[in-house]
Amino acid sequence: MINNHKLLSKKDLLTIAKIAKKISGIHLDQSKKYTIQSVISRRIREVNAENINDYFKLMESMEGEYEKDKIISALTTNVTSFFREKHHFDYLHKLLCCDFHAEIMREERIRIWSSACSSGEEAYSAAMTAAEAVNYSHIKKIKILGTDIDPEMIRRAQDGIYFKNNIPKNFSEKFNKFCDFSGEEFYFSRNIKDLVLFKKLNIIGEWPFQAKFHAIFCRNVTIYFDKKTTDLLWRRLSSRLHVKGEIYIGHSERITNFEELGLRPIGINAYKKVV
Ligand SMILES: C[S@@+](CC[C@H](N)C(=O)[O-])C[C@H]1O[C@@H](n2cnc3c(N)ncnc32)[C@H](O)[C@@H]1O
Repeated sequence: MINNHKLLSKKDLLTIAKIAKKISGIHLDQSKKYTIQSVISRRIREVNAENINDYFKLMESMEGEYEKDKIISALTTNVTSFFREKHHFDYLHKLLCCDFHAEIMREERIRIWSSACSSGEEAYSAAMTAAEAVNYSHIKKIKILGTDIDPEMIRRAQDGIYFKNNIPKNFSEKFNKFCDFSGEEFYFSRNIKDLVLFKKLNIIGEWPFQAKFHAIFCRNVTIYFDKKTTDLLWRRLSSRLHVKGEIYIGHSERITNFEELGLRPIGINAYKKVV
C-alpha cells in the first residue's frame, strides 16, 4: 500500500502542477496539494507504476496522452446540468428569434459554441432552445459545437443518453417534445442530435476552425485558470463573436475589461459584442 504523504515531494508536486498548467491551463496552487497527492497516488496504483519517477516516464511515453487526459479529468469537476442558469437560454432564445432573425431568414449559418461542454447537457439545452426559437424550415442552418478537454465527457455527449432524473423540474414537456424514452433513460431525437457536434478540444490551445460564432457558452471553466490565462481566453473568445453575438459565462466568473473587448453587459453573466 502506497503512503500518499511519503509519495510526492514538493518537487514532484511542482512538476505535476507544471504539467497540468501546460496541457490544460489549470492552475494548481498549494491549496490543491492534497487533491494532487490523492489523484496521482490513485493513478500510480491503477497503472501499476513502481513510484512517481516511473509514472513520470509513463507520461513521457506513447501512452502519456491518455494519462494526461486522466489526470486533467480527475483534477477538474464535470458537474453540469440541463438548462443550468436558465436565464442564459432565455437570452439565447431572444438572440435567435430577434437579433439574428434576419440572418436566419436569409438562410445564413448560425453557430453556437459550448466551449467546455462536459457531458453535453449545455449543448443539448442550446439545441432545444434553438429548435423552439427557429422555424422548422430554417433549423438545419443552426450548428452547435460542443467541446471539452476530457475525452470521456465527449464520448458521453456524443452518445447523448441521459437518465430521466436529470430532467429539471418543470421541463418535462420540453423533453417529451425532443426526446425518446426507454425505461429510466432518454436520448435526443434525430432532429436535435443533427444540430450538435462534439469534439475534444483544449480551450487554451489552438482552435482548429476559423469561424465566428453567434453565441458562446464559456461557463464554469475559467475557475481553473489563473488571471493571465483567463484574460487571454476572454480576448480570444470575444474576437470569435459576430457583432450582436453573445457570450455567457459562469456565475462566479467576470469579464472585467469588457469594454476594451467590444462587449456590453446585457444581463446576468452575459455580454453582447457591440463592435
Ligand atoms: C464544471 S464543468 C462546466 C460544464 C458546463 N460548461 C456548465 O457550466 O455546466 C467544467 C468543464 O471544463 C472542462 N475543462 C477543464 N479544462 C479545460 C480546458 N483547458 N479546455 C476545455 N475544457 C476544459 C472540464 O473537463 C469540465 O468538463
